[in-house]
Amino acid sequence: MTMQWTGFIQRLFEEANPYLSVRGDMEHTRVSHDYSLILLQREGGDKGIVEPAVILHDVGWSVLEPEVISAAFGVLAEGEEAERLNRIHETEGAAIAQQILHSLDYDPVLIQKISAIISRHDSGENAQSLEEGLIKDADKLWRSSKIGFWQEAERQHLDPKELYRYLNERYKEWFFTSTALTLAGEDLKARAKEIDANRRGLT
Ligand SMILES: [Fe+2]
Ligand SMILES: [Fe+2]
Repeated sequence: MTMQWTGFIQRLFEEANPYLSVRGDMEHTRVSHDYSLILLQREGGDKGIVEPAVILHDVGWSVLEPEVISAAFGVLAEGEEAERLNRIHETEGAAIAQQILHSLDYDPVLIQKISAIISRHDSGENAQSLEEGLIKDADKLWRSSKIGFWQEAERQHLDPKELYRYLNERYKEWFFTSTALTLAGEDLKARAKEIDANRRGLT
């Protein structure tokens, strides 16, 4: 990794920060970015698309009011309104990402690809490229990650056991890469141990 690239990634995080702090999404973004690096390493793919797209994928939540967002948010959110708001965060996010990347003189061809992926990162059921699959996988790996799992349980007022059961029943359908599937399986095993330790008062 060149120093120049590392500096660019850091700059992107700084640019994304005001948008991500509206809903408290910086940790989600950092965790997803860490997963995307593992996925890039094991699955291949263009980091010039994947890293910026992961860092900017949720900036669109910033256009919605926090009270409105809670209806659309989380693994348990469903229904027409949730879907409508979800679409807004995708389209607005794609536009904001374009703006940010243009302002940093990023390659216009890559900007196009990145914003197209952001515009369907949650709603699109398939992945039209390896990179799109990696971005979607990195986003969803948050759910079973240590930080993500416990943060979402608290934020969505869910019983950790319920959340675990929900994720464990469904996670196998979410991923495009075998690396992500394996990682999520390992993460969930670790969450089960933590839940058990909490129950027995070991932590
Ligand atoms: Fe999203
Ligand atoms: Fe996300």
